[in-house]
Amino acid sequence: MRVLAVCLGNICRSPAAEAAIAEAASGAGVDIEVDSAGTGAYHIGEPPDERMRRAAARAGLSISGRARQFEPADFDRFDLIAVMDRTNLRDVVAQAPDEDAIGRVRLFRSFDPEADPDGLDVPDPYYGGADGFVQVVAMVRRAAAGLVAELSG
Ligand code: 4NP
Repeated sequence: MRVLAVCLGNICRSPAAEAAIAEAASGAGVDIEVDSAGTGAYHIGEPPDERMRRAAARAGLSISGRARQFEPADFDRFDLIAVMDRTNLRDVVAQAPDEDAIGRVRLFRSFDPEADPDGLDVPDPYYGGADGFVQVVAMVRRAAAGLVAELSG
């Protein structure tokens, strides 16, 4: 199983989601290959945001990698494309070659058992305070656990 986490910049939410999915898969003994990408090009080649890394590290989650942009070829490389919010969903679906590819795209928080059905976005923490990054860590961990449970169940 190959999973791609997608947000806008690939420096905050999706690198955290990628690390959380790897952590949950490892904990459950499930073989999942995971990567992340951003729909935007603003931060290509950059490491994850310092604030995101710090919040994750404080919770015991190590985030690494360099930002890359989502590309249509990712539909061939991944079985599941887990997008962080509805804008990412729209931007990724717009690049899908066919219905089958669209079917591989899911809002990441749809796997979070604590998420409200009307609030399935992982909010963008980039322009907010430190608390937003702490919230993202908790959300992506819950969603990652739910995702691994669903994929292995
Ligand atoms: P991310 O956060 O999508 O979670 O990586 C953002 C990073 C950068 C920007 C927006 C969101 N930006 O506008 O530069």
